[in-house]
Formats: sequence, structure tokens, C-alpha cells
Amino acid sequence: MSLNVADISAATKSALAAIAASSDLNELKTVKIEHLGDKSALSKASQALGKVAAEEKAQFGKIVGAAKAEVSAAFEAKLQSLETERDARVLSEERVDVTLPSTIPSVGGLHPLTILTNEISDLFIGLGYRVAEGPELEAEWLNFDALNIPADHPARTMQDTFFIEPLDSKLVLRTHTSPVQIRTMLENKPPIYVICPGRTYRADELDATHTPVFSQVEGLVIDRGITMADLKGTLDYFAQSIFGPDVKTRLRPSFFPFTEPSAEVDFFFNGRWIEWGGCGMVNPKVLEVCGIDTTEFSGFAFGMGLERTLMVRHGITDMHDIVEGDLRFTRSFGIGGR
Ligand code: PHE
Repeated sequence: MSLNVADISAATKSALAAIAASSDLNELKTVKIEHLGDKSALSKASQALGKVAAEEKAQFGKIVGAAKAEVSAAFEAKLQSLETERDARVLSEERVDVTLPSTIPSVGGLHPLTILTNEISDLFIGLGYRVAEGPELEAEWLNFDALNIPADHPARTMQDTFFIEPLDSKLVLRTHTSPVQIRTMLENKPPIYVICPGRTYRADELDATHTPVFSQVEGLVIDRGITMADLKGTLDYFAQSIFGPDVKTRLRPSFFPFTEPSAEVDFFFNGRWIEWGGCGMVNPKVLEVCGIDTTEFSGFAFGMGLERTLMVRHGITDMHDIVEGDLRFTRSFGIGGR
């Protein structure tokens, strides 16, 4: 570019006009490259100074310098004002009203039956028991035969038991947690101290007090010199831990094929006797099936329904509340996480 005052002032004017016309920071950036960048008219004028005759250099130098300074100052001023504008806009657009009600994230909770199972497990672990588990889809032999429940026993009829097709699969949905006794005795040598909490199945209709899918907790002790007094003491401790320190238990004679003698266990709570479950001394026939020497070892077993335990303890009157999984019900027991 040839260096002349008119061109420099024209370049300055158009730079100032472009800066003034920039309406946002992006536009201003482009304007900067065009009017102040290496290829801009003013930069070219600076470069051309080198070729100006020595006596004119100072004069032109001043003119070009002043032009660049003016454009740079206009650019800086515009930059500042656009940035201030942007900051104000961001502040107002991203404003958060901290006084608005917040949405509380919903935290999962344990089902009350799980909370109760954990509580009972802890209790017995504290007594030196182990928690044993078994499958819900169980061999008919373990659910019935090994427990001295013969093929013609009424509990084995279609009305009570969910059989699995094909029928010669010899599988059932376990009707109680007692097959876990057998599994435990087959796999371990005495002394044995276990509790077996778990889900069980019987062909009942769901109503206020029944559910076809329910839960039991089974207890099994096999050791030397175990008597019914040990059973009674254990049940008292169990009942008092679950229902309160003043709770009493009583045994009523009963019959289970796998215990001999057998009893129903009731507990006295809120002024009345309430049926809780079954118990007894493990039938020697069952011990023999499991290869346990009955001259050396004896044992007791008990089994209760967890739904019933929960209903009595918490005054729940409808089984549907336990089964349906409504969070309002679950939450009333607390989260129960540990
Ligand atoms: N299994 C029995 C039932 O489901 C309960 C029970 C367990 C009875 C252990 C005696 C001993 O009814």
C-alpha cells in the first residue's frame, strides 16, 4: 500500500465504524482480525513505513501510530462493553431461585420383611448361629420324604403344594423352610446351629390373612445333650427380643412328622395368647436319614411365619399391605439400610 494520509484516515474510519456496528463478541472478533490483524490496512501501513523516505518517516509514523491507537482503544472499549453486557445477561438467564421448593430424590428402602429377617439373623448370629439358605424350587424328597412326610400325607396333596411340571421332575416350590434343615445336616457334621429364613409357597388365595407366597424362619440345633428345655429357652429369648422383654411363650402338644415330640409355640402379647409357629425335638428318623448318630446327638427345630410375626408386632391387619409393595407402607418402617 502506498502511504498517504487519506488512505490511513479512510482505513481508520471504516475500522471505527465496523467496531461500533459490532453487536456481539463474535462479530467483534471478526472485526478485530479484519481491521487490526496482520492483513489489515493499518498493519500494512505500518509495514510500509519501512519504505518511506527518512525525512517523512517520523511524521507518517505518528499518523499511523495514532490511527492504530485510536482503533485499538475503540476496540478495547467495545470489548469491555460487550463483555459487561454478556455477563449481565448470563447472570439473569442462569439465575437460580434458591427459595423454590426442591424435589427430594426418593431413596430406596428395604421391605419390612427384609428388615425383620435381618433383625432375626443378627439376633441368632449373636447366639453363635449361622444363617443357612436353600433354593425355593426344591426336590420333593428334601421338602417331604427326608422330613418323614410320607407320600400319602395330606400336606403333599395338590391343594397345598405347587408341583412343578412335568410331575416326574419331582420338584416343588418348597412349602416350608424345613428342607434347609436336611440340606444343612447332609452337608455339615454336628454341632449345628443354624437359622434359615426364606420364602415359601402354598396354594392359598391371597386374602387379609393368607398369601400363597410367604416367608418363614427355621431354627435348627443339633448337639450333644440338647433337650426341650434348650428349645424353650431359645424361644423365650427369641420372642422377648422381637416382641418385648415381658413376653412369655408356651408350648402346646402338636404333631409334625419331622419332630418328636412336637409342639405349637404361642406367645403372650398385648393381653392374649397368639399362635406363632411349630417346634419340637428333631425326629431321630430324620437324623438317621442325614447320617447323624442318634446315640450321641439330639436336636430341636422351630419354624415361624415372618408375615405373621410382622403383623402382630406392628398391628398390621391386612396381608395385602405386606404383599403389594406400596412404598407408603414400606417407608413407614424407615429405610432400614445399614
Ligand atoms: N415346617 C413347619 C411348618 O411349616 C414348622 C416347623 C418347623 C415345625 C420346625 C417344627 C419344627 O409348618
